[in-house]
Amino acid sequence: MEFCVAIDGPAAAGKGTISKAVAKQFGFAHLDTGALYRAVAAKMLEDDEDLDDAGAASRVARFLTEEDMSHADLRSERAGSGASRIAGVPAVRRALLEFQRDFSHRKGGAVLDGRDIGTVVRPDANVKIYVTASPEARAARRAAELGTDPAEVLQQLIERDKRDAERAAAPMKPAADAYLLDTTDLSIDAAVAEAAARIDEAL
Ligand code: C5P
Repeated sequence: MEFCVAIDGPAAAGKGTISKAVAKQFGFAHLDTGALYRAVAAKMLEDDEDLDDAGAASRVARFLTEEDMSHADLRSERAGSGASRIAGVPAVRRALLEFQRDFSHRKGGAVLDGRDIGTVVRPDANVKIYVTASPEARAARRAAELGTDPAEVLQQLIERDKRDAERAAAPMKPAADAYLLDTTDLSIDAAVAEAAARIDEAL
């Protein structure tokens, strides 16, 4: 079996940065699974489709293209919160699951980051890390990244986390055997080093 690392956690906790860094360090492929959900939402917003229309959302998810994955609006908080609205639709999650599982079996190893990698996509992953940070630290980081107001971002993150944690389909939660990594008071380098140490132990 190819080596698989599952990295989950709430918005802006550092999952993406840590995943990219350890993938590079160990030569693993990396998939940001949030980008799949963001691409569905961004496409629907562009086409003026109703995000509450579960049928439309699952259709977009089933026919997602490479082009949708590089949508200009992908990183905006509008696409992020739109993603969390369509991510509660079971048919959307089903449509995106096979691609994620296939990717996770890549030759040479893979790192996937998201909300349900260690619980649903790869419950058998070799390493599971759940990355958290205080809501204030996460809002400050995201606001700096987007050049927006931290107070506004904080409100959006809290709403998004609540929706992700409370949905019935694959809710955001740490797997029972996940290593909890709180990055509130850690530098990027220290957080990456801690994740890399967990991978080293399991290799
Ligand atoms: O990680 P990111 O902020 O890009 O994710 C956007 C949204 O996509 C999340 O708030 C969540 O609702 C959804 N998502 C998910 N499952 C994943 C990854 C992302 O439901 N594995």
